[in-house]
Amino acid sequence: MKSKRAPDSDLSNLMPLLIGLWRRLHKEAGPPDVLQTREFRGVVTGLQTLQKGLQTEKDLIGKDYFADTQLLGAYLLYHWVIHYQQGLSLLNELPVVPRRVLDVCSGPVPFGFAALRHGASEVIAMDRSVNALQLGAEVAGRYGYPLNIRHWKNGNSPMPVEGEFDLIILGHCLEELFPSNQKNWMDQQEKFISKLLQRLTPTGFLLIVDDSHLEPNRRILELRDKLVQMGVPVQAPCIWRGQCPALQAKDSPCYAQREFEKPDLIKQFQRSAKINLGSLKMSYLILRSPKAQWPELPEEKLYRVISPPVETFQGTRYYLCGTDGKKVLGSNQKEHSIDTRAFEYLKRGELISVENALEHHNALDIIQGTKISVEAACGKPIPEQHKDQ
Ligand SMILES: C[S@@+](CC[C@H](N)C(=O)[O-])C[C@H]1O[C@@H](n2cnc3c(N)ncnc32)[C@H](O)[C@@H]1O
Repeated sequence: MKSKRAPDSDLSNLMPLLIGLWRRLHKEAGPPDVLQTREFRGVVTGLQTLQKGLQTEKDLIGKDYFADTQLLGAYLLYHWVIHYQQGLSLLNELPVVPRRVLDVCSGPVPFGFAALRHGASEVIAMDRSVNALQLGAEVAGRYGYPLNIRHWKNGNSPMPVEGEFDLIILGHCLEELFPSNQKNWMDQQEKFISKLLQRLTPTGFLLIVDDSHLEPNRRILELRDKLVQMGVPVQAPCIWRGQCPALQAKDSPCYAQREFEKPDLIKQFQRSAKINLGSLKMSYLILRSPKAQWPELPEEKLYRVISPPVETFQGTRYYLCGTDGKKVLGSNQKEHSIDTRAFEYLKRGELISVENALEHHNALDIIQGTKISVEAACGKPIPEQHKDQ
């Protein structure tokens, strides 16, 4: 197993920095590390407006909502912190540190900032909101990181960037770029993604991230199927190369889950805005350049754990998706030997190998002689045979 580690989030320094930038944005004076009651309420109202406008009623879709400082400030103090942590974890799944990075629809650049924390040497962020870009540049500037910002509105002009990228990021923006109530949105989305894929170096990656809710999740899974059909290899999370099994069943999402480091202010926002999010849940895809091959994996059967432990009357079960499709891993054993002890601690997102299980239909049962090993922990790269290809 590789011992690649995500960089420290540094949230203890970042939170006061974000609060300071929030104050500058609102032209308010005040203490550097806490919000006053009226300010706090303003942020909570902003969060509720964003949630309604982007997720439930979607009345902000298509609008330059970051022109409103209340919404941009709320985004910076809450969503930015979440998306930055998503970026730290997901970028750690890349086999190498990307040098040249493009963050498309970057907003205030949480993903681009995560790439800089990972050691990227050049990050270009593009968005239609100059206010959001400037805020992102200020965060990066405080760390002395090189962040280039470019104003760009999709559809109005070609992308204002030259050359190829080791990594292109599309974070939480598909529905805004291609609203699903518009004609031909799927074709347009596909054309856009294909253009981005053409901008990758032959060893580059495209990272697409969205929420774990059913609608954005299905969108990402359907996009995955379409791109796989077109010959685009997947780096993560899918090991299975066929059609996505989660799409065969109704209301059956398949998403990732990571630990969420929650500063006090984030907990307070969640309590007040009634946001129930205990871990980082997200839908994501890391695609390879269409010029590349699928990753070369070790010979044994590998599976991604795609559910938390599910208690059934037959004992604990985990859903897996791996080299030979979707499986259910179960155990009737009261006590596990050293070879199967990992079963007691499996986490959604881990990549495991299962040897000598009893197989019938799509069930894998742990029996005497079975061996389970974690081949890649959550947020770690897959174990590739030839990493330099
Ligand atoms: C929900 S935010 C996501 C920001 C950032 N990627 C993140 O993950 O936090 C969506 C971003 O897409 C941008 N956006 C929406 N439609 C756009 C368009 N047509 N052209 C350029 N940017 C657009 C918005 O300005 C906003 O910054």
